[in-house]
Amino acid sequence: MSATSSKTIILEGAPTAKSIIEDLSIKIKEYTAAGKRKPALAVFLVGNDHASEVYIKNKIRACGDVGIKSQLQHYANNTDQFQIMKALAKLNGDDTIDGILVQLPLPSHLSTEEILNAIAPDKDVDGLHPYNLGLLFAGRKGLQPCTPKGIMALLADYKIPIAGKHAVVIGRSNLVGKPIAALLLQQNATVTICHSKTNNLPAICKEADILVVAVGQKQLVDKNWIKPGACIIDVGIHRQTDDQGKAKIVGDVLFDDVKSIAGYITPVPGGVGKMTVAMLMANTVFAYEQHLGVGASFM
Ligand code: GUN
Repeated sequence: MSATSSKTIILEGAPTAKSIIEDLSIKIKEYTAAGKRKPALAVFLVGNDHASEVYIKNKIRACGDVGIKSQLQHYANNTDQFQIMKALAKLNGDDTIDGILVQLPLPSHLSTEEILNAIAPDKDVDGLHPYNLGLLFAGRKGLQPCTPKGIMALLADYKIPIAGKHAVVIGRSNLVGKPIAALLLQQNATVTICHSKTNNLPAICKEADILVVAVGQKQLVDKNWIKPGACIIDVGIHRQTDDQGKAKIVGDVLFDDVKSIAGYITPVPGGVGKMTVAMLMANTVFAYEQHLGVGASFM
């Protein structure tokens, strides 16, 4: 990875995501032509978080594109834990539902842990149930969290070498930081996980051949943190309003500044986000094949 600024490759998620969606769509058409039912995904949204509403809209639109039936269960912000648990139990027992997704974050009066634990592991298309996280950390096949899985698919599609490289991950969430570290390790990267208590963070990042930034701080990372030619994966999504009052979406990385030195960089929007949605579709089709009994077993 010794690209100079003029050769920086933008890791666009759209073409990779589109090709995954097309493949899945063909697969579903083949199943339905053979008389099988369509795959089905149930999506839970609690409250009115604007960002969550946008993500959900994109996920439901993708279901339509790929041929997955979707149902949205939208609950008021003050819905209690018992009501959500009851609805999840019903879907767990419904043989026509393949995937269940609970959009995060949940309102603070709800227990995220208890709710994620209540999703049947074979329908856990977000890969956040402890059973599926256990399979992931054991290096075994299963449902994997969508953003980390999407990052790996993007790296593969752009043929970014991983084995032997130093990968630095900023962020230790169950949603992104910990699983992406495990997936990079499985592909023989040497992985460092950084977080809010890490000393000398910029210096550690400057050692990275692959830097995954999932820290949730607007434009934190600038070019002084970057090894020339490195591959930068930006997982952040933030709304920013410019001096004219125009809103735009930015990431955790100061894109133009870092692009001037990186070898590869994901844009925001248009990078990792597209891959997250494509992987949700892939996980739903994977769960569907398990339920039809036509996929390779992993349970
Ligand atoms: N909130 C932000 N990203 C995600 C995701 O990948 N899955 C869920 N369920 N919630 C999220």
